[in-house]
Amino acid sequence: MAEALGNMKRTHMCGTLRENNIGEEVVLMGWVQKRRNLGGLVFVDLRDREGIAQVVFDTDVSQEAFNKADPIRGEYVIGVRGIVKKRESVNDNLPTGQIEVFVEELKIFSQAQTPPIYIEDNDDVSENLRLKYRYLDLRKPKMQKNLMFRHKMAQLTRNFLCESGFTEIETPMLTKPTPEGARDYLVPSRVNPGKFYALPQSPQLFKQLLMVSGMDRYFQIVKCFRDEDLRADRQPEFTQIDMEMSFVEIEDILGINEKLLQTMFKEMMNLDIELPIQRMPYKEAMERFGSDKPDIRFGFELKSINDLVENCDFKVFSAAVKNGGEVRGINISGYGDSFSRKNISKLEDFAKTYGAKGLAWIKITEEGVNSPIAKFFKEEEINNILERFEAKSGDLILIVADEADIVFDSLGHLRVEVAKKLELLNKDEYKLLWVTEFPLFEYDKEEKRYVAKHHPFTAPMDEDLELLDTAPEKARAKAYDIVLNGVEIGGGSIRIHNGELQQKMFEKLGFTQEQAWDKFGFLLEAFKYGTPPHGGIAYGLDRFAMLLTGNDSIREVIAFPKTQNASSPMTEDPSVVEERQLEEIHIKVVEDK
Ligand code: AMO
Ligand code: AMP
Repeated sequence: MAEALGNMKRTHMCGTLRENNIGEEVVLMGWVQKRRNLGGLVFVDLRDREGIAQVVFDTDVSQEAFNKADPIRGEYVIGVRGIVKKRESVNDNLPTGQIEVFVEELKIFSQAQTPPIYIEDNDDVSENLRLKYRYLDLRKPKMQKNLMFRHKMAQLTRNFLCESGFTEIETPMLTKPTPEGARDYLVPSRVNPGKFYALPQSPQLFKQLLMVSGMDRYFQIVKCFRDEDLRADRQPEFTQIDMEMSFVEIEDILGINEKLLQTMFKEMMNLDIELPIQRMPYKEAMERFGSDKPDIRFGFELKSINDLVENCDFKVFSAAVKNGGEVRGINISGYGDSFSRKNISKLEDFAKTYGAKGLAWIKITEEGVNSPIAKFFKEEEINNILERFEAKSGDLILIVADEADIVFDSLGHLRVEVAKKLELLNKDEYKLLWVTEFPLFEYDKEEKRYVAKHHPFTAPMDEDLELLDTAPEKARAKAYDIVLNGVEIGGGSIRIHNGELQQKMFEKLGFTQEQAWDKFGFLLEAFKYGTPPHGGIAYGLDRFAMLLTGNDSIREVIAFPKTQNASSPMTEDPSVVEERQLEEIHIKVVEDK
């Protein structure tokens, strides 16, 4: 039987050839990027994972190879044997631009139809088409770099954690549905009619059980599944770098993770991260930046003017304060001239998408104050507001009055939107921040009850333990997030390691003792037999890789991602299954009305 490669054995990757290879006989294999026929010469740009090399078919070298080269088209897969020579017209844009390979033997491994997308970094076809032909899309040098970059991040993490005494342990993919957090992906059990597994939203409970088992330090680079509404930084299946440690306090976990981050930035980006990484309590992050994941690459910090407008004649402001709300604003210092009335009204529309009812503004010009709300204020009041914002000519102050949540959320997003519009966000600048002291609970308006802000296994801060009974909404947690340029790339906490406190936590979350045992009995049971104090963290590898590769969507660093509606245009999943298959798993489909 003829072998696929004939007598050829690859000696080099196309993209690796350099001047020092001149004179060598090489065998290259790859895809045809481009082919030009110049009479007696055919030039082919041959591409593989490592780059492109120019190969030349010359009648003087091999008439046979030249003849065979004639029908070659883009994306044909070929092998060539030839001699590396110095290139006459050097191409400085190509790492292999000093050389070319004169072909003595050509083998065409496979032909190719004209691909539906160009194999070039800058082709701008729809993402849907890119995902339908993902295997072609992934031939683009940029995409191959993204995947190799991601791989290197994972490898680095694995090495770092192994050297730091962590053991990689796999946890189940078929597990128990959880009532907290996002929606589960459910898997019906064929052998247990009417019963379901859930795909894990994270290995949280299993990693805690591994601490009970005495594994001491665990990690896993692991797929997680969450049935959430998708966004640029959210996929239904994504990858966590997940870890857990025994006999530790917050400082130990942050400490080792800072070293991991430092190693990551050094090895991947050749950047030196100064330790310790800046820390900011949640409350301060909200008050200064309107966000629990602030982008601290730029200013425009929020300032409260509650005290200045409490008794003013502008009812929108005074009423907000009287109703227990907030009046806060940001000063777009120095950029007032960049925003016309029309632009400001666009900012107002933007703020409204986060629930703001309006956006008051004050522009400070050489001629004085320009503002639709100036008429409601005495001169002294306006001056006090300007002073609060340290405003000077050329500034623009944007103010929202509402319930605190809405004020923070709308201004928090607005400051980022403004920075984007002003092109102040430098992708090559990386600012890390630990956000700490998160609230233990958050009120869920839909469910009308407290839910855990991080998850129900997170320990309260020691000094706030008593608040659990008196003012749970004020209790803070031993929880922390790591934020990079305004994106939450990871989060974790010290866990509750005491069955009674855990049970109390469940009570506060509105579970009866019975419900708690039904859902988490195995954890409460485990805690009875000797549990070490423990804690951990998980990073979103996709988000981290997205930021380090300068991409705006995690789909760019995932080989086969889903679209916005959780489907794949390539495999066409999710899909309808045969009746017989459904019967086996005891499922009846109810038509959506
Ligand atoms: P958390 O729910 O904060 O914590 O998740 C950890 C990190 O995972 C990433 N992430 C996602 N990335 C892409 N798509 C998604 N849908 C998605 N959801 C989350 C984020 C996030 O910071 N078990 C805890 C960790 C712990 O306490 O140790 C957990 O899962 O970057
Ligand atoms: P009005 O008197 O309703 O026309 O509002 C005057 C200005 O106040 C407009 O620029 C509105 O956008 C702004 N405004 C209205 N409601 C709010 C609010 N809740 N917070 C901040 N500004 C507001």
